[in-house]
Amino acid sequence: MCGIVGILGKTSTDVANALVTGLKRLEYRGYDSAGMALLSQGSFHRHRASGKLVNLEALQAEVPLVGNVGIAHTRWATHGIPNETNAHPHMTERVAIVHNGIIENHEEFRPALLSAGVQFKSETDTEVILHLVDQALMQGLAPVDAVRKTLEKIKGAYALALLFREHPDVMIGARHGPPLAVGYGQDEMYLGSDATALAHLTHRLSYLEDGDIVVLTSRSVETLRLSGERVQRPVREHRVSQTIADKGAFAHFMAKEIHEQPETIRQTLGTYLNDAKSGLQHPDLPFSWHDTPRVTIVACGTSYYAGLVAKYWFESIARLPVEIDIASEFRYRTPPLPKDGVAIFISQSGETADTLAAQAYAKAQGQHCLAIVNVPESSLARAADCVFMTYAGTEIGVASTKAFTTQLSVLAVLAIAAAQARQTISQGDFQNFCKALAQLPALMDEVLICEQECREIAYQLTKAHDILYLGRGTSYAIAMEGALKLKEISYIHAEGYAAGELKHGPIALIDDAVPVIAIAPSDALFEKTASNVQEVIARKGQVILISDEEGHKKFSHPHIRRLVLPSTSSCCILSPVLYSVPVQLLAYYTALIKGTDVDQPRNLAKSVTVE
Ligand code: G6P
Repeated sequence: MCGIVGILGKTSTDVANALVTGLKRLEYRGYDSAGMALLSQGSFHRHRASGKLVNLEALQAEVPLVGNVGIAHTRWATHGIPNETNAHPHMTERVAIVHNGIIENHEEFRPALLSAGVQFKSETDTEVILHLVDQALMQGLAPVDAVRKTLEKIKGAYALALLFREHPDVMIGARHGPPLAVGYGQDEMYLGSDATALAHLTHRLSYLEDGDIVVLTSRSVETLRLSGERVQRPVREHRVSQTIADKGAFAHFMAKEIHEQPETIRQTLGTYLNDAKSGLQHPDLPFSWHDTPRVTIVACGTSYYAGLVAKYWFESIARLPVEIDIASEFRYRTPPLPKDGVAIFISQSGETADTLAAQAYAKAQGQHCLAIVNVPESSLARAADCVFMTYAGTEIGVASTKAFTTQLSVLAVLAIAAAQARQTISQGDFQNFCKALAQLPALMDEVLICEQECREIAYQLTKAHDILYLGRGTSYAIAMEGALKLKEISYIHAEGYAAGELKHGPIALIDDAVPVIAIAPSDALFEKTASNVQEVIARKGQVILISDEEGHKKFSHPHIRRLVLPSTSSCCILSPVLYSVPVQLLAYYTALIKGTDVDQPRNLAKSVTVE
């Protein structure tokens, strides 16, 4: 949440333009407002605009800011509404600051600052840091000491970049929680929320650790702990693409990313399946599945639903007990974790604050921590004992699609590997699982044929105020993921329910205005779900049944709208991956017809670096 870019440049660099390019790559972190400040001729010059980055670009086109030194920010609002006044950078005459995070004890400092004559201009927590640093500078402290003195007092999460009027060749960064990278250029230095933000400037990066402060000049880097102790952070090459992803022939990134899934799954499984597609190859594990008493899976949002599918797989195939929780609950409920336990953390970004904190807790409890991430240099990956990458490529749409199905693919690999190691499946079954995985990309291509039908059904969904998704087993997780997708981008209220729970409450909602989407591949639970669908029909609910030919043959009714998918009866691993596609498409087309902002839905951000 919130993205930061900072540049200590040379006269030859178009710093303002380079800052905006950096922000473009960070817009996934928030798009409530954006701003930048450049230091030139002894003072700060600033543009800020509420709304999307294009508004800031328009300001810059009208009145170009120039200078060699600048900081910029794209905001996801926490304290204060998303207007221009609350947009970053915040600044006094002496200092300018951009902040990603939340300062929890900002109220504590306001009375003293007010009595010292400070006039707050915004409603943000960030402005408190600004004035504390400013006051320390006025007392004669050097920039680094002013920042240290301030950070010693504040509690909360932050990645910061600061500039100082009296020290035009100094930029200070600090991290406690949200990530901050230092970029190394030719007589230039940069700060950025991630490697992508700086990819147009440099690939040579180091990452700050929690509690680090970095003092940059155009030719030097000094990293200190809050205590003042000097430390060094390794500088590495991070080869991320310089090109800003484009939508190709698609109207939205989400549509493009849905269609990329056969390829991203092929890429991901290509790494984990052996050449003969009859066995697995994967990074060495720092534990033995055989000795593991329990797996704990923790994640947020869509990644959590991937974990929920995997719980069914680990339990049924590998006979391994699995506990699963959302990270924001897990991190505070002090769960006892078993000796030799394995904890799996799933995250597209690898930067979700709650998931990071959950991993730190599990580590402290002696668990073997395995991270499934899409960003190799992310904080979650760096802190894990073992990393299984998803190869989804950059996902731009805020609503996760291809990251989800690649997470499922990796989780399937892990569950099959665990089953083989624990000898809960025969060698023949093991090979059949691997072969089933190898079929996934082609089956995903086949599933995409249902696109036109999903579009037609979406017209029906746009009229609804409430929509229920039902499923059993792994389809229950897909029902919840489907409801989340629809809520996120179409703003229609939707809930995913275990089909068997329908009669314990949600059935009271059913009438002829409520569409009910049943996710029911013809598996061992099909008849059970079909009975629940009957209960909906009896109450005049509008049923959309997503199943295969066999399922539709077993259960048809004139009031059911059918969506037919390829058969997945050969392997339990196939259906959750394939059935993700129609729920993604239903959400996409419903949002499209409603005219909402599909790729950047209101109030959301792709990387959630605050709790
Ligand atoms: C946000 C995104 C979701 C994502 C969730 C977890 O809410 O909008 O798409 O599923 O964060 O993110 P992660 O990067 O940890 O998978």
